[in-house]
Formats: sequence, structure tokens, C-alpha cells
Amino acid sequence: MDNQKVVILDFGGQYKELIARRVRECGVYSIILPYQTTAKELAEIAPIGIIFTGGPNSVYTEDAPQCDAGIFTLGIPILGICYGMQLICHMNGGTVSACKTSEYGRISLTLEKRDELFGDIPEMIHMLMSHTDQVTALPGNYIPLAHTHDCAIAAFRCADQPIYGVQFHPEVEISEYGTEMLHNFLYTICHAKGDYSMADYLARQIELVRQQVGDQHVILGLSGGVDSSVCAALLSSAIPGQLTCIYIDHGFMRKNESDEVEAAFAGRDIDFVRVDASERFLKRIKGITDPEEKRKRVGNEFVRVFQDEAKKHSQAKFLAQGTIYPDVVESGKNKSAVIKSHHNVGGLPEDLGFVGVVEPLRGLFKDEVRRLGRMLGLPKSLVERQPFPGPGLSIRIIGEVTREKLDILREADAIFREELGRSRAKADQFFAVLTNTRSVGVMGDFRTYDYTLALRAVCTSDFMTCEFAHLPYSLLTKVSSRITNEVKGINRIVYDVTSKPPATIEWE
Ligand code: XMP
Repeated sequence: MDNQKVVILDFGGQYKELIARRVRECGVYSIILPYQTTAKELAEIAPIGIIFTGGPNSVYTEDAPQCDAGIFTLGIPILGICYGMQLICHMNGGTVSACKTSEYGRISLTLEKRDELFGDIPEMIHMLMSHTDQVTALPGNYIPLAHTHDCAIAAFRCADQPIYGVQFHPEVEISEYGTEMLHNFLYTICHAKGDYSMADYLARQIELVRQQVGDQHVILGLSGGVDSSVCAALLSSAIPGQLTCIYIDHGFMRKNESDEVEAAFAGRDIDFVRVDASERFLKRIKGITDPEEKRKRVGNEFVRVFQDEAKKHSQAKFLAQGTIYPDVVESGKNKSAVIKSHHNVGGLPEDLGFVGVVEPLRGLFKDEVRRLGRMLGLPKSLVERQPFPGPGLSIRIIGEVTREKLDILREADAIFREELGRSRAKADQFFAVLTNTRSVGVMGDFRTYDYTLALRAVCTSDFMTCEFAHLPYSLLTKVSSRITNEVKGINRIVYDVTSKPPATIEWE
């Protein structure tokens, strides 16, 4: 991509993705990089501006994250937000101290100077403040730009360089004129051209794919998830007639899901291969109860089935993947402990004879992939789909997976999703889990000894942490009644009231 870029240097702030999104909404392409990125690396990327995010640390503590000091001499405009502002101050000879009165919430802010950063924003505005430290003395050649009642220096700039700091968060919605401020930074200070839009992105990627693959054939493993589906739709526009999509039905999909995926691609000029491998997968995990072992076996089998199918399409010279930007960052930088092995992030063996990999979504964030999917005419049910684990329902059945248990779970899960979807309750991910516990119940005059089903609904923005959703009792009552009446094999329903941590979202 030859768009102008803004780099967002990540100091651990919770709003980094939001900043990236706002910048893109202003028509400028942005990427998030770790705070350790060196001045040399940045110079090579040549962004038109750099934004330092907030972060949870205090700049004056020993192990507080610091950036490469060389960044301040690159001549590239910088905007530091919250911790980012304090770091600019600290690294350039100013002082940051603990606040006498911390500020949290929407605070009244007074702009002291008419600066390019503010343009014609009114003098008194309300911005989100959330800090326990503040700038108390500015570096020599810096000038204050704004204050609040409890924060004497709520914004500053370097007198002779385009380096700015703001204690407030212009990126959040509740900040008044936040978008205008970012817009001013991008257009007036960084001289952005506004050369980024989703339509441009699409047109450029189509062109790039055509250049890359020429008249060769491409193969794509389609999981039915958002990323691979959007990738397939994009490629079907770019190289009609040259794409084979292999959809492996491992038998662990939700009710009607495989048919829906097939239907979504029915009208496109692609070779859609649906492989029913459910027998194969069930056999591979027969008798397996350990969650990690289950995940690994499903993952390995997936690769084997894909390889077997790919061999039948040896004319394909390129492998397409729906890799998106967060995948790139995670696979390169994330050294955290393995809690669960996500089988769809492992990659495929290299002995399939492909000459190249096609990844047209590599620069995008999830919400942008969804937007692109809508532009490409994919149905809402696919584009807005909740995350669904690669191993599917096999890890939502605790203990051994059998066909009978899969059928029970599919029906119960469909009822829960239908009722929650119809209600006004809000949850970002929701599904049912078939526990391995059976208990005694009574139905009519008869004793039953059936499974306990757990309902899980969570609120989260990043799926790294979550809170359980506070679903109304009326909804839970209806779901419980419908499932116990309509699904044979379940006589008890429980609602999972744990957050993450300490639990995870999935049970296995
Ligand atoms: P956990 O259970 O780790 O899940 O809290 C976090 C999010 O990731 C989803 N998840 C997966 N997604 N492949 C995926 O693509 C997987 O193997 C996988 N396992 C969990 C989970 O649904 C939740 O949204």
C-alpha cells in the first residue's frame, strides 16, 4: 500500500484500537506498533505523523515504557495522549508528578491558545480525563495550551517543532470535538491528503491480487468465519473463475451454519468445494476428554483434510488466507503463555507446492473487514458473525464428543441464540455449552436423568477479558423453558456468571 500512514505507538493504553479507527475514519491509514519500535524503523516506514497512546504506568517509575529518544528528532509530527503526553514531557526535561486530585470522567477544559491543533473549536469544551499523574513543569521550549480546574497543563506543544501532548482522550466518543482535534492534527499539522477509504482499499487490493497471481489458480480454506469469507468474496471479484474455496465441514458447526455458508457463495464465479469430513473428525476425537488434546487433534485433522483436498486441485499455485492485521501482530509479538491452542492460527505445512500466499486483508482491523464484507455484498449474518472457535462445538461439549451430544447442543444453542437475538438484551458473544454432568429431573410423572446445559453470554470489546452479561431473568426463564421442553436430553439449565479472568469465554 502506498497510502500515507500514521503510526500509533502503543504504550499499553486501552484505547489504541479506537485511536487507529478514528484516524482511519478521518481518511488516513494507520498502524499500531509496539512502543519499542526504533526511530530507524519508524524513519523507514515514513509515517506522516506519530501518536503515542495512553498507558497504565507512571513515567517516573523505573520500568516505565519509554520510546526511542531518536523519535523526537525525526521531524515527524507527534501527538501524545495521556501517558503519551507525560512521556514526551518526561523525556524532554519536564516534570510529571502524581495528581493532588485525580480526574476521571468528562471534565470541563479551557483552551488557552489558538493553536492549529484546536482550529476553531470553542474555548470551553468537555473532554474525557482519566489520570492520576500530570505534567507539572514543561520542558524549556514547550508552551501550555489548555487547562482544567485541577490540571494546570492539560495540553502543550513544543514551540519550534510539531510535538503536541494532551492529557485528555480526544479519541473517545464522549469527548466533545475530539474528532475535530484529531482531524486538525492529521490535516493541518501532518498535512494528510485523506487518501484512505474502504473503496480505495478494495480497488487497490483487487489490482494487487491480479498482479500477484496473473492467470494462475488460487485455493482458499474457507472456515465460514468473517475473515476467510470476506477474503473469498474479495477474491471472487478480483479473479473470477480462478478461485477454489475449500469449505471443510468438520461436523462441529452450529445449526444450519454450513448450508448458510454455501448459500452465501452460491452466486459467485468460484469453485466452492464442500467437504463433509464429520465422520473423520468424530473418529479422531473419539474417547478424548482432555480439552487441549481435543483442540490439537481437531487442528491436525483440519490440516490433513485440507491437504488431501488441496492435492486434488494441484493446478492451484497460490494459497489465499484471511489473515488480518491483529493476527499479524499477535503471531509476531505475542509471547504470552499458551492458554488454549487456537488451531486456525497455526498455519499450514509448506509442502503443498504453492508459489505464494495471497493475503488481501492483512492491513485491516476486524470492524473494517466487516465493512468490506458488506461492500462486497455478503449477508449480514456472515459479516456480523460472533467469534466462533476453530474446533467449533467440539470444545463446547465437555468430555467425550458424540454425534448424539452434538445434535442436542446444536438444538439448544440455536434456541438460546434465537431468543437472545430477538430480545433487547446486549451481549457480544453468546452460546450454549453441553456439560458432562447429568442430574435427576422429573418430567410429567417420570424421573429423568439428563444433561445439564450451561448458557454463556459475555460483554467484551476485545475478547481478551469479559464480563458475563446481565441478562434479564425473563429471557433466561423463556430460554430455559423452551430448551427443556423442545430438546430431548436436557433437564437442567444453568447460567455462567463468571467473568474473564478468572474464567475464559469458552469452557474448553
Ligand atoms: P477464550 O475461551 O480463550 O476465547 O476466552 C477468547 C475468544 O476466542 C474465541 N476462541 C477461538 N477463536 N479459534 C478461534 O478463532 C479458536 O480455537 C478459539 N478458541 C476460542 C472465543 O470464542 C472467544 O471469542
